[in-house]
Amino acid sequence: MYIKELSLKNFRNYEQEKIHFSPGTCLIQGANGQGKSNLLEAVYNLCFARSFRNLKESDLVYWNKPFYYLQGTLYLQNRFFKVEVGYDLLKKRKVAKINGRTTRQFRLAEYCPVVFFLPEDLELVRRGPEERRRYLDREISQESTLYADLLSRYNRVVYQKNQILKEKRHNNEIQKLIRPWNRQIVYFGSRIIHKRAQVLSTWNKLAAHNYSVLFQNDQEMKIVYNNFMGEDVLFAGIEEIEEKFSNEIVLVEKEELKRGFSLLGPHRDDITFLLGGRDARRFASHGQQRSAVIALKAAQIQLYSEKKEKPLFILDDVFSELDEWRKQQCFLLLRDAEQVFLTITKKDSCLDSFLEQATCSSFLHVKEGKILEINSNGKNRTIC
Ligand SMILES: Nc1ncnc2c1ncn2[C@@H]1O[C@H](COP(=O)(O)OP(=O)(O)OP(=O)(O)O)[C@@H](O)[C@H]1O
Ligand SMILES: [Mg+2]
Repeated sequence: MYIKELSLKNFRNYEQEKIHFSPGTCLIQGANGQGKSNLLEAVYNLCFARSFRNLKESDLVYWNKPFYYLQGTLYLQNRFFKVEVGYDLLKKRKVAKINGRTTRQFRLAEYCPVVFFLPEDLELVRRGPEERRRYLDREISQESTLYADLLSRYNRVVYQKNQILKEKRHNNEIQKLIRPWNRQIVYFGSRIIHKRAQVLSTWNKLAAHNYSVLFQNDQEMKIVYNNFMGEDVLFAGIEEIEEKFSNEIVLVEKEELKRGFSLLGPHRDDITFLLGGRDARRFASHGQQRSAVIALKAAQIQLYSEKKEKPLFILDDVFSELDEWRKQQCFLLLRDAEQVFLTITKKDSCLDSFLEQATCSSFLHVKEGKILEINSNGKNRTIC
């Protein structure tokens, strides 16, 4: 898939801009705070009708303006789609249209093979469980609206149950009060766990292969899914997970009453990266940890490519964080994408040599919310 054009109206620090793109690499350069990430956010918003950081819609509106409006054309499954996404601050109303028709569920998102790579992703191994869960959820939700829906229902139920646990801890009836919520937690939670297990097991196989090939490393890489069932979950169907979950959730009730919050379920899951059988978070070097994430990203791109629709790849300033060697390995991944958006603050020789090989690349310069298209004279390069 690729984006053919994008116009922004009052989106973040962009008042009014229109840009045309082609398949290939689009390099977005600018100093700090000029609007590079905002432009990528607009691209994401156009594909998924939501902000990738799960921010409030009102945050996306240019300060003191009444609305934002994005319009663009996506090429997907051999067709062009006209997409409009906007938010009206006064009416507190969000609009998403595909080919002029309002859609309540933005189903296009399920078919958009977009892989995002943010600088904070590189730190995935080192960060806390909450960030790793968020990563997992962001990536799975992107290709499954069903999962996104289950997740938001699940989170709402856990929130409700926690409210009861907090407020009515000394109420004798509390067990009666939380059991209906537990039933819903088990229902939604089992489906979330099942989906996570499936996705992680496919990621795992490819990521392990990538780690050894890309980084010529004989240490084996493995991603382990930590959940209340352990590795058994990989072979269990939804019913089996549901049954185990409903048995176990009763066992933690007393502890939950004591501690005042919900203790069992996918909101407590985590993933562990193992390198050579050891927890990479505790034992691997910073570079090895980052390599593990790149191997995982590569797996995600490969999975999209297998679906016959070449993905769109968005990298927000990842390269400044990488050493030469890892940069080169990342460039190899970009070849599998149909379109690449890449932000940088400064060009370097490594990037230049990559752009020399790219068949088509455009170069945008961003300054104070204005976009300038710059025609660079490199070999094979045309402005798209
Ligand atoms: N809703 C908004 N309205 C107007 N301006 C905004 C809004 N949200 C963010 N900004 C401004 O947009 C500017 C650009 O942000 P952005 O994150 O895109 O910069 P960047 O070019 O990616 O910088 P960096 O290289 O530091 O990552 C920031 O200075 C921020 O203050
Ligand atoms: Mg940025």
